[in-house]
Amino acid sequence: MADATLEERIGALACPVDHTMLDPLIQDDPWDFYQELHERCPVFPMPEIGAVMVSRYEDVRFVLTNPELFSSNGRGGGTKRGLQVDNARRYQEILRERGWGHVETLQRTDPPMHTSYRRLVAKAFLPRRIADMADHIDDVTRGLIDGLIERGECEFNLDFAMPLPGIIIAEELGLDSAEIHRFNRWAGAMLALAMRPLTEAEVLETVEIELEAQHHLAAEFERRRAEPSDDLISTLVHAHEGEDDAEPLTVAELQNLMHQLVTGGFETTTSALNHGMWLLTRYPDVQDRIRRDPSLVPAFIEEVLRFESPVQGLARRATRDVEVGGVVIPEGSMVMIRYGAANRDASVFDRADEFDIDRGRNPQHVAFGVGPHFCVGAALARQELVSAFTQWLARTSSIELAHPLSTPVHEPSFLLFPMKELPLRFESA
Ligand code: HEM
Repeated sequence: MADATLEERIGALACPVDHTMLDPLIQDDPWDFYQELHERCPVFPMPEIGAVMVSRYEDVRFVLTNPELFSSNGRGGGTKRGLQVDNARRYQEILRERGWGHVETLQRTDPPMHTSYRRLVAKAFLPRRIADMADHIDDVTRGLIDGLIERGECEFNLDFAMPLPGIIIAEELGLDSAEIHRFNRWAGAMLALAMRPLTEAEVLETVEIELEAQHHLAAEFERRRAEPSDDLISTLVHAHEGEDDAEPLTVAELQNLMHQLVTGGFETTTSALNHGMWLLTRYPDVQDRIRRDPSLVPAFIEEVLRFESPVQGLARRATRDVEVGGVVIPEGSMVMIRYGAANRDASVFDRADEFDIDRGRNPQHVAFGVGPHFCVGAALARQELVSAFTQWLARTSSIELAHPLSTPVHEPSFLLFPMKELPLRFESA
């Protein structure tokens, strides 16, 4: 197949499974599909988008820990045709005309370039620093629960799971935490194109929201340039000052870092909070056990992250023909890494489809990734989850669904696992 196109080479890979991850119903409830992939098609061809999907635990780890074979810089990967490609091109044109076109930073770069971005951002999220923030995160959590507890019911997604990470990331960056609904709208728009196919009208609508975010943030950069402060925006605006040979970050780079921090810090933790709470309503015995012994909260959280991974998938680009699980992935393929599937691999996790808070940390789940791009916000996310579940369980004697969830339970998304709603009823302790 010397002259074959990428789509033809991927289409020629043998695979007996004929569902597609682009189906919103599979995105909503992917577990049987993942199991089928593990058993019958570990490298799943998706010729329509020039991609293959890797689902086994060992294969996912192999892809993530070999950045020279699987680049995080997606430029040039996947198909060059189709509605999504045209949409992305149009979106970028509009950003370049009226704002800042996307450039590659941090999560979209490979070592050694990645290492210098990572160093700048990581300082703000060091486990030691997050430990110092624990009391404050507890206070914010308490304040949110105070506003809900007497009501005996809430829409957990809107009333708690979105505000908690929103307030904390806004404070960390140095944005006004009273404006989290606006930031949430930005995060949704920034992610939309990667999540699902958009119509032309939706592309125009979402790009306007991202432009609003960019101009708001550009004004914040200017303010910090004139008046430095101790927040992360200021650190990034003043990065590399006083270093020979190093240039300050450009506004386009700053915009891209903000994009990653706002999107990375928001919907992921919201999803973990929602899924954790939903699991508690399904397993009242687990609620009772943790109420009696709050030291089980961290084990509960790790099992939530394994069982219902908030980031179901992300992508890499194959830099050359490379064999994974006995299949040659063609150079240029978009390689979809399925963290959510790897965490349910029955050859690694005993009774992988059972929720079990007693399974311990070995083997480690990959919900925060592995390798150079391991989630920079992992310690922060874990602290938010510990504060939330410890306090919710201490302040209630029971928590249940106020009414059955409407199906599908999740918003359509190719990459994340966002729940649409979580109506709760609870008794205060
Ligand atoms: C439960 C919550 C979270 C989950 C499940 C999660 C998951 C992940 C995963 C899987 C990656 C690896 C990406 C890759 O392999 O390319 C990642 C990276 C990243 N995460 Fe998180 N994340 C969470 C919370 C956060 C928070 C709170 C922040 C806040 C700042 C954050 C910021 C980032 C950033 C900036 C990266 C890119 C790191 C790099 O490329 O070096 N995440 N996250």
